[in-house]
Amino acid sequence: MTTANGQSDALVFFGATGDLAFKQIFPAFQAMVRRGHLTVPVIGVARKGWSVDQFRARARDSLEQHGGVDAAAFKKLSALLGYVGGDYHEAATYARLRDALGTAARPLHYLAIPPDLFPTVVGGIAEAGCARDARVVVEKPFGRDLASARTLNRLLQRYFPEPAIFRIDHYLGKEPVQNLLYFRFANTFLEPIWNRVHIDSIQITMAEDFGAAGRGAFYDHVGATRDVVQNHMLQVAALLTMEPPTEIDTEAIRDAKEAALRSMQPLDAERVVRGQYRGYRQEAGVAPDSSTETFTALRLRMDTWRWAGVRFYIRAGKCLPVKATEVWVALKHPPADVFGDVKAAAPNHIRFRLGPEVVIAVGARAKVPGEAMAGHPIEMRACHQSGDELMPYERLLGDAMKGDATLFAREDGVEAAWRVVDPVVDASMPLYEYEPGTWGPPEADRLLAPGDRWHTPAATEGVP
Ligand code: BG6
Repeated sequence: MTTANGQSDALVFFGATGDLAFKQIFPAFQAMVRRGHLTVPVIGVARKGWSVDQFRARARDSLEQHGGVDAAAFKKLSALLGYVGGDYHEAATYARLRDALGTAARPLHYLAIPPDLFPTVVGGIAEAGCARDARVVVEKPFGRDLASARTLNRLLQRYFPEPAIFRIDHYLGKEPVQNLLYFRFANTFLEPIWNRVHIDSIQITMAEDFGAAGRGAFYDHVGATRDVVQNHMLQVAALLTMEPPTEIDTEAIRDAKEAALRSMQPLDAERVVRGQYRGYRQEAGVAPDSSTETFTALRLRMDTWRWAGVRFYIRAGKCLPVKATEVWVALKHPPADVFGDVKAAAPNHIRFRLGPEVVIAVGARAKVPGEAMAGHPIEMRACHQSGDELMPYERLLGDAMKGDATLFAREDGVEAAWRVVDPVVDASMPLYEYEPGTWGPPEADRLLAPGDRWHTPAATEGVP
């Protein structure tokens, strides 16, 4: 993959005392240290006036709760940690950061902070002279809509060239998500059927069996469409529908993926159903009259040569019956019902379970042993047994430090994805209540074409 201009020589980490840092980033740092991928200073920045020892204690706490402390790796990580406390609105904070950076000539600034702080922090970094030859990693959601995403892109590009900007979407760092690209284009058997002639419909389901989970104040400003559809779900949809990249090169892959995003039609109210689980408004940090959706179901259109007429459904929600993310590709029935029991049965399918277990399965029909020429559905499954793989944040932060942008969203891709959801992120769209532990509001059924039904992933895969 293309790597531009060498390795970052310091990692600055805004939002260092936050929730994301605690749950995901410290474990990723420890894993990077263990593999020898992180050997440069790591400077946490946050509002709290902590000492570096308090910051180290926070890191240890995080690891104790999320994955465990590896004594040798943690010792090395501790020695790399530095901390700058201060108000993001004050120039003095960035002056202290500059001092803490010392001789580092190519820092990477990772902004794990709420999006409304991006302009202040990016401006502060630049005015302190810390943007020169630096890279910046920004967390999602990248803007609130198409217009704000464009403004944000312009702002970042005022201080950083596009190759130095890394828009993170942790789904792109997941092994099974990368495998969608690999599996499609490393095999010959899929491509001949991967089109409107053989595929009937595609469903992507991202179900979570918990609610706002202590993130009410953040989530209530975002909602399911901005939180996971505009990014994770549309990126998965793009990987499933993109044309083969011309080569395995950062821009060739991103060109093909962004072209798929551009060919998705913007949604309208007819194609989207929003839901909110009962009890959401009583969650800490949530407005008592909140109209934020915790569930989105939608029907996407791609009028391309390959996909015209194929029905694409996406469902994502909190407080659903299970935690699972799954892609279900339903094939068409065979043209003639030779055995008389095929047309009435479910058609063949291909299933990609992206989490919690990683599975690729092909659903088919096979003969039931016995006298009759009759069949039943079977599924052939390949289950991935988790090995020594990179966690998404470990992979993505490591890639950004090398300058490899392959697994990051490009400016045009982010804007293309916003163009799809922009007409339906308006809070005045209808909102239906649903009971926690159900598959969302029944109104979502109106999106289904006659004969279609929602695919509901199982709670567990029962991996042998
Ligand atoms: C995050 C969302 O991007 O993805 C969360 O902000 C969501 O709301 C999370 O819970 C899900 O990620 P994963 O990796 O557990 O599927």
